[in-house]
Amino acid sequence: MDWGMKNRMSKIIRPDTGRCLMLAIDHGYFLGPTERLEVPRRTVAPLLPYADSLMLTRGVLRTSVPPESNVPIVLRVSGATSIIGEDLSKETIVTSIEEAIKLNASCLALSIFVGSKYEHQTLANLAKLVDEGEKYGIPVLAVTAVGKDMARDARYLGLACRVAAELGAHVVKTYYCDNFEEVVEGCPVPLIIAGGKKLPEADALKLAHDAVHHGASGVDMGRNIWQSDWPVAMIKAVRAIVHKDADVKEAYGIFLKEKEKDKSGQKEPQKVVKTVSHSFD
Ligand code: R5P
Repeated sequence: MDWGMKNRMSKIIRPDTGRCLMLAIDHGYFLGPTERLEVPRRTVAPLLPYADSLMLTRGVLRTSVPPESNVPIVLRVSGATSIIGEDLSKETIVTSIEEAIKLNASCLALSIFVGSKYEHQTLANLAKLVDEGEKYGIPVLAVTAVGKDMARDARYLGLACRVAAELGAHVVKTYYCDNFEEVVEGCPVPLIIAGGKKLPEADALKLAHDAVHHGASGVDMGRNIWQSDWPVAMIKAVRAIVHKDADVKEAYGIFLKEKEKDKSGQKEPQKVVKTVSHSFD
């Protein structure tokens, strides 16, 4: 890796802990207004100080994150599908590398849909993006999804992660599953996990804990943070797991303590329109 690539990677995965807490707020790129992410600026503001990086599209970056903010940007550059369209896997690259550079992105994120109708297209997108990223020293995060009929187990997730790494992804995101260490072992680049649909806070903390305990380099978490009634307390608790190796009990203790102080609590959803649920889950 050249200096630029190493420097950007160090903004995504903290060199002192070898881990990352990426806050995902890109859901609107195919879901539209998602519950408690209806007004992204409002959702993200109280969480920014605790996120190592922010995963989002250029539209939300421009409108909802202050340019003075120092948070490293993981720019989602794949899309052009929606939850009500023909097929979610029919993604293409929607943001150019020049645009990513202008936006000072530290990393590019793109989805691959292994085992889906448009598998080939999404894998070719990844290979092309890695070539572009390599030219300018910008790492690529491959977001893995497997076909609708496939179990989210170590076999299929492991396959998707390995394919992503073989095509040159610098970081891979997947889901936690039984025998997760097999997925980690088969993937020669850092692996991070998505949080998935909203769980009770203690369960989400256990998920994050089990993932890092079994070899994940951190989390790229969205709904389990900002759909909590106490998002700041939640991100602080996840942070303790990721960077301080807190166990589930300690992390939940942090959540309960911080919950008392959390003025960002969203007792009511911000939503103004009916939102559609996440189809990957
Ligand atoms: C899909 O919407 C995105 O890649 C999300 O960033 C990803 O699923 C992580 O968010 P969550 O923790 O809500 O699953």
